[in-house]
Amino acid sequence: DQPTITLNNGITIPQLGLGVFRTQKGQETVDAVRWALETGYRHIDTAKAYDNEESVGQGMRESGVKRRDVFLTTKLWNQDVRDGRAREAFFESLDRLGTDYVDLYLIHWPADGWQKAWEAMEELYNERRIRAIGVSNFHRHHLEELRSFSDLTPAADQIESSPQFPNQELIDWDRAQGITVEAWSPLGGTGGDLLHNPVVARVAEEHGKSPAQTIIRWHLQRGVVVIPKSTHEERIRQNFDVFDFALTDDDMAALSNLGINRRHGSDPDNFNF
Ligand code: A2P
Repeated sequence: DQPTITLNNGITIPQLGLGVFRTQKGQETVDAVRWALETGYRHIDTAKAYDNEESVGQGMRESGVKRRDVFLTTKLWNQDVRDGRAREAFFESLDRLGTDYVDLYLIHWPADGWQKAWEAMEELYNERRIRAIGVSNFHRHHLEELRSFSDLTPAADQIESSPQFPNQELIDWDRAQGITVEAWSPLGGTGGDLLHNPVVARVAEEHGKSPAQTIIRWHLQRGVVVIPKSTHEERIRQNFDVFDFALTDDDMAALSNLGINRRHGSDPDNFNF
């Protein structure tokens, strides 16, 4: 059985999901989602900004897997936060996805006006349109501000994390608050060289696994949700074949200390989109 994590409101999330950032809408997304669900994935992570929600919905329907058996996440985009139209944007996402609820809805970035957006999301949550609400790219100081005006602790904080940028301090803090961490760019993102790192290669070889499988395993054993992206059927299958081996404490430490510590994406205190 694949591992799950129980969120702070009692619902469960499969710990491994398919990410679809930079997966092209149309056939590429439909295929990736369908292949993932056929392989056994039960968790898909998209966003309005990825411009592929319609194709995600189509892939889910074509897979034949029941809607209630899939954990579906999407995200509220920054412009909708700034324009104060969280509620409208949410229903537009539902329309594109072709579903009447999402499992997890996240504020994509702490854009100006996110506090109002959070209140709108609380309403949608209370109306049972969303099974859990959370945030993405929130630093500790954003979450401390949120706590000052809301009694609802976010179920999740989706942040950049990989062996090249472990982000461990924020992960530890989130966890102490009961906030589940989800790792984006878990394999180091596009154009990165993490998958060719010699330390990763050595650990992978010792376990007879690929570098991608080894890194996914590192995330799983750290207790974070991990959502690797691929558009290739073989890789989508390979990335799910990670439940039959375990990294040692030494392996974990080696992968956490590659000596890189560099972000691939933007700092949540300094983004311009
Ligand atoms: P592709 O979609 O062409 O397979 P992240 O999830 O960190 O954002 O980055 C995933 C990147 O790693 C993508 O560019 C993806 O490319 C590639 N990738 C995903 N899975 C594998 C794998 N098993 N082996 C090699 N590359 C992979």
